[in-house]
Amino acid sequence: MQTDRDFTAALVRRAEQAGYRALVVTVDAPVNGLRNREQRAGTALRAGMEAVNLQGMRTPPPPSPETLLFGTPLLAAAPTWTDLAWLRGLTRLPILLKGITEPADAARTIEAGMDGIIVSNHGGRTLDGVRATVELLPEIVETADGAVPVLMDGGIRRGNDILRAIALGATAVLVGRPYVHALAAAGAPGVAHVLRLLRAELELAMTLTGCATIADIDRAVLVRGA
Ligand SMILES: Cc1cc2nc3c(=O)[nH]c(=O)nc-3n(C[C@H](O)[C@H](O)[C@H](O)COP(=O)(O)O)c2cc1C
Repeated sequence: MQTDRDFTAALVRRAEQAGYRALVVTVDAPVNGLRNREQRAGTALRAGMEAVNLQGMRTPPPPSPETLLFGTPLLAAAPTWTDLAWLRGLTRLPILLKGITEPADAARTIEAGMDGIIVSNHGGRTLDGVRATVELLPEIVETADGAVPVLMDGGIRRGNDILRAIALGATAVLVGRPYVHALAAAGAPGVAHVLRLLRAELELAMTLTGCATIADIDRAVLVRGA
């Protein structure tokens, strides 16, 4: 959800026309968290690199040196439930909200007509102190009560982690840094390798806990040592 809502609407149309089958809207990071190491490293896109799908977007003017965050156009444009309702009315594509960390917001996501929940704390990169997603997952699964798929991300590093998340009710998991690191280390084949490793480890963990199919994975695997 970009601050330029006309641009957001155009992006949705482009996604539809390109054959995308769902939209994921990040709701937990209207602004970046405080990342001191990133600041110290002076992280910036290299010359020649840009967000190609955001070309031509109007961006709010940078805040004046006296302003911090409150009162800036960036914060004024942070998406609210009203904006999400607007987006819901704009497209028939399934919409998943990414960054849900509380049962109340999970309930509201379903009420708002969304099609899925992604339990995520942005990989712990946004608000210090948010509980781990694996801890948040069970109560959100309970709230969703099968109405929509509940996915999760954060800290998925081995097949066992996937097995545990599914045992706690996740429909699926997402990975962030493993594939980013693989991309940096070995390009596209590295990403394929990471996905293959995760799948092989999941199959091994399923075999060792006696699960022939994903549907066989339940909380009992947790006491079998997974
Ligand atoms: C370098 C980097 C950039 C990210 N950028 C975004 C982003 O633009 N939007 C978003 O929703 N999440 C972003 N994330 C968070 C990931 O989508 C994901 O929630 C998180 O990395 C999952 O945790 P994991 O890295 O432990 O698997 C980013 C993560 C990293 C590491």
